[in-house]
Amino acid sequence: MKGIILAGGAGSRLYPLTLVASKQLQPVYDKPMVYYPLTTLIEGGVREFCLISTPHDLPRYRQLLGDGSRLGLSIEYREQAKPEGIAQAFLIADSFIGKDAVTLILGDNVFYGGDVFQKAFVDFRDGATIFGYHVHDPERYGVVAFDAEGRAVSIEEKPRQPKSSYAVPGLYLYDNEVVAISKALKPSARGELEITDVNLEYLRRGQLRVLRLSRGFAWLDAGTSTSLHEASAYVQTIERRTGVKIGCPEEAAFRRGFITASQLESLITTLPKCEYRAYLEEVVAEDRRLQTR
Ligand code: TTP
Repeated sequence: MKGIILAGGAGSRLYPLTLVASKQLQPVYDKPMVYYPLTTLIEGGVREFCLISTPHDLPRYRQLLGDGSRLGLSIEYREQAKPEGIAQAFLIADSFIGKDAVTLILGDNVFYGGDVFQKAFVDFRDGATIFGYHVHDPERYGVVAFDAEGRAVSIEEKPRQPKSSYAVPGLYLYDNEVVAISKALKPSARGELEITDVNLEYLRRGQLRVLRLSRGFAWLDAGTSTSLHEASAYVQTIERRTGVKIGCPEEAAFRRGFITASQLESLITTLPKCEYRAYLEEVVAEDRRLQTR
């Protein structure tokens, strides 16, 4: 499955921070925001990426992530000239997607906990798989409602009177039909190609699966200064308590077998002496200890 990271947008709610750097390059505790969605997709087994951002910010992402080869990945870059909707990503990345299935993740979504995503990637065959997450302010999101059997019956974008408390987070898995579906979309009243309209089309076709994320699972959307700060505090708390990093693409690539222990070791030698490097050194050391047992 191919992977798209959508890291454009205006980021107006983070002004004036976004005068300094694009939203998805802002730090979430100890690493750039985009590391988190990148790691989520690596954990899902994705190796071929297309990162989409604004013409202004794209060079910075390229500088940060390169061609992905040091993580055993390939990363392409495409411009979105204007933020004309999340579903526009499938038009921009058309030739990258080719004939494959594709997953899209928003560059400002941080996920943590459980293995529901990994399972969703493994189980994916066709149609669409999206997720439902219980929130207290559903009117800010795409909202999915379920029938008594737990099947999705409606999805509405930012409804004034939400029919449920389940928001749709920014991770979507689609078969190749998503390209044709996106090409047929008309812009919404706010002038965007809406991801909710893509999901509605799959729902109409009877091909939409909505997996509910458990309450223990964390979904942090780091789009405002308050939520950015909260995301940092959350990551710091978990990392200090467990000693395990969230959103560490080098570790994820290693654990998925995209790079070997020796490749990770040589990558580590290129890093400055810092806590991040010490963490990765410990990841390799622990692996070596387990091997010799
Ligand atoms: P939003 O948070 O809805 O929009 P934004 O990033 O432009 O922020 P603001 O409302 O503060 O101006 O977008 C959700 C994510 O999707 C975010 O990571 C940016 C990305 N996005 C694009 O890259 N292109 C788009 O056309 C849209 C609508 C969103």
